[in-house]
Amino acid sequence: MIYTDKVMDHFMSPRNVGELENANAVGEVGNARCGDIMKIYMKIENDVIKDIRFKTFGCGAAIATSSVATELVKGKTIEEALKITNKAVVEQLGGLPKEKLHCSVLAEEAIQAAILDYCEKNGKELPEALQGCGGCCGSCSHDHIAHE
Ligand code: FES
Repeated sequence: MIYTDKVMDHFMSPRNVGELENANAVGEVGNARCGDIMKIYMKIENDVIKDIRFKTFGCGAAIATSSVATELVKGKTIEEALKITNKAVVEQLGGLPKEKLHCSVLAEEAIQAAILDYCEKNGKELPEALQGCGGCCGSCSHDHIAHE
């Protein structure tokens, strides 16, 4: 199995790892395919993701994709963050082996779950991308590579 240098870099030195004490949005999801778990913490102010951390009980590909995903959504509005798909994250990494694509869904779903948490806690109308979503059931129409 071949990993790009960028995957190895983010796996060996993942960015934004850990917890955020002052998080006001937390999302936790499991990967239906392998059982791995991802937790994302965000500090959101005026719908802008000011800070973000992640913790995962997942494989190297999950760590690398989460690291890149946190970099991509930091500083973005929640609407912008919801547009960042796992496909975009994989592209940033220069690709992943096909059998590891499902790992990239963890970060995307945890980001969605955290934003859902933020909207619910703050009585905000759910962004269109999250309407009807009560967390990932694996059957939504998002452009997830790994959903079967
Ligand atoms: Fe579970 Fe990669 S094998 S996230």
